[in-house]
Amino acid sequence: MDFTAQYRWGMSDEIGLDDAYSLKSASDVKRLYSRWADTFEEGFIVEHGYVYHRHVVEEFVRRADLGPAEAVLDVGCGTGVGGVELRRRGPWPVDGLDLSPEMLAKAADKLDGRGEPIYRHLFEANVLEPLVLGEGRYGGMVSIGTFTHGHVGPDAIDQLVSLVRPGGLLSLGINEAFYARADFGTHFDRMVTAGFITEPDLVQVSVYDPAVADHDHVDDTALVALFSPLE
Ligand SMILES: C[S@@+](CC[C@H](N)C(=O)[O-])C[C@H]1O[C@@H](n2cnc3c(N)ncnc32)[C@H](O)[C@@H]1O
Repeated sequence: MDFTAQYRWGMSDEIGLDDAYSLKSASDVKRLYSRWADTFEEGFIVEHGYVYHRHVVEEFVRRADLGPAEAVLDVGCGTGVGGVELRRRGPWPVDGLDLSPEMLAKAADKLDGRGEPIYRHLFEANVLEPLVLGEGRYGGMVSIGTFTHGHVGPDAIDQLVSLVRPGGLLSLGINEAFYARADFGTHFDRMVTAGFITEPDLVQVSVYDPAVADHDHVDDTALVALFSPLE
């Protein structure tokens, strides 16, 4: 990374990916996103041509076989761009969960075209700790940008799977470099062998749109892992 890029991403007052990727603990995550919440959408999503949420939701919608009243949980919902996309693309109620109260406050402000809140319920919770949401409560789950460097690794997946009913659908976006580094493949193999989930389909997607973005991470890719819990 050249000096200009380093300045742009990490050493100025502007918060960026280098800050996010170097986090070490849940309290680091909370602190960073409490500072970032106000500028996250304009300064990061729009400015950096972030299109990850569209891809994760697109893959979910393409395969989902859910009743219209079955709810979808957006894990690490942040300011709510995934929820907006989900509500635009399907009839399902959407709940959101995030560690950061400041990011959740932005998600709570999101309204659909009829002035209704995008999110039915929002939960402040850490997915690395026990959750009390109830087994099999959801028909589907998406996650965008949360399985990445400095954030959440494969250990959270077992608990998240238990929140979705057997035969439901999870569409989890995982930063591709982090997928290899944190060995998500071995974790998924173990879950498949134990009979917990179907073999994940892995779809490679772009995180940013190179047509509108010009920065060091513009070519970053993610793998969307699509799978269902088994009985
Ligand atoms: C890069 S942001 C992505 C937000 C949103 N999904 C999007 O695509 O714009 C990552 C989000 O994951 C949340 N997060 C990170 N670690 C978490 C954890 N252990 N439990 C719950 N949420 C977490 C952060 O608070 C942040 O809002």
